[in-house]
Amino acid sequence: MNRKQPLRAVKGMRDILPPESRLWGRIEQVARELFHAYAYQEIRTPLVEPTELFARGVGEETDIVTKEMYTWEDRDSKSLTLRPEATASVVRAFIEHKMYEQPGLKKLYYMGPMFRRERPQKGRYRQFFQIGAEAIGSDSPAVDAELIEMIVALLARFDLSGFTLLLNSVGCSTCRPAYIATLRDALRQVSGLLCPDCQRRSETNPLRVLDCKVPEDQPIIDGLPILFESLCPGCFTHSQRVEEYLQDRQIAFTMQPRLVRGLDYYTRTTFEIVHGALGAQNALLGGGRYDGLSEALGGPRAPGIGFSLGEDRFVLAVEQAAPVETKARTDRLLYIAWLGESAYRHAAELARELRALNAAVEVAPDAAKLKKSLEIASRIGAGHVLIIGDQELAEGKYPLRDMSRGEQRTVNNDDLFREFGVPRANE
Ligand code: HAM
Repeated sequence: MNRKQPLRAVKGMRDILPPESRLWGRIEQVARELFHAYAYQEIRTPLVEPTELFARGVGEETDIVTKEMYTWEDRDSKSLTLRPEATASVVRAFIEHKMYEQPGLKKLYYMGPMFRRERPQKGRYRQFFQIGAEAIGSDSPAVDAELIEMIVALLARFDLSGFTLLLNSVGCSTCRPAYIATLRDALRQVSGLLCPDCQRRSETNPLRVLDCKVPEDQPIIDGLPILFESLCPGCFTHSQRVEEYLQDRQIAFTMQPRLVRGLDYYTRTTFEIVHGALGAQNALLGGGRYDGLSEALGGPRAPGIGFSLGEDRFVLAVEQAAPVETKARTDRLLYIAWLGESAYRHAAELARELRALNAAVEVAPDAAKLKKSLEIASRIGAGHVLIIGDQELAEGKYPLRDMSRGEQRTVNNDDLFREFGVPRANE
């Protein structure tokens, strides 16, 4: 019989396998703890949203909306989209559930997959994961500084160094239109010299020209007027406060006047953290203020700020900083090998009781000779192997092999519960 052609994952979408998945789990757990410490609560929004949410929220002319979304017409002719990011969804939920009616700042975090049909490369995937947080309901610069403090604390929990915090202010609906008009005029003089994408953006979304990465365009872009210099007094003061509050916290940053980011909802503060070890896709995370997003989505005025960390890239950076993190830390795993039906029943019962106490236990699925059992135990990274046969069962004593030391000793049930039943601290 001909074997069927094996299927593969969709291009740009990948499986996260053990042991790497352990590091993903740990990152998510640490992030959750930290978010709770800063009084953020989890929100889960659907992976599928009405297409219009992103057209209105992220922006009709952005690369995300024009080129990168997975959009289809559903059976009832509604246009649906796999979320390319989560901020628009969180603000939609904020409005839909009238969260603005409760007093105070709404602090929400999320983690999960996002979808963008970009050209896949290292650190860039079509399904990628973000861990993010949004604080909605205040335009105070104190919120900006606290959010950035939390982000820096997250990186510190993984001993990540070698990153740079880039900061900018992109102004507001008072000062930005005048700047964009000036920028358009300036671009008209030079647009012919720019790359085809920038020639198009000069008309459709001139701010995005500032973000162009094409090397030949850089000297021309460097000569364009700077948004930061046209901020209105309100935006200027806001930006000054954010800088001061970051300095109070000894958080280093680099002002980057060309940091406009790829989403249209931003106002005032924008930031990115780039990491040297990541290569071309060096943005580990990005975020900023979106004081007009709620209104753009039909809600009340609700200024907000948030960030999203690219988890795929964070994993790469943490692995490079401390490769040991990804190694299977299963030395606490107890492998129980058995021979004979009654030995199996005893092994299963023992495993059930130890697992109830949170011990990590694997029971051999089949009877096996000692040599084979040790091979399997070693392959799955078990720290110890317990061997149960009829004789051991009758005596209530079993050989326990320490795999790293290669030593064997005899233990009874009490010894086992003492050794494996109570998880050690820090595990
Ligand atoms: P973003 O800059 O589009 O912002 O994405 C945030 C991060 O997600 C990036 O810095 C990067 O690490 C990661 N990322 C983006 N695209 C990919 C990809 N194709 N493959 C792997 N990683 C990727 C946002 O999404 C905003 N929602 C951030 C935000 C939250 N602003 C305010 N609140």
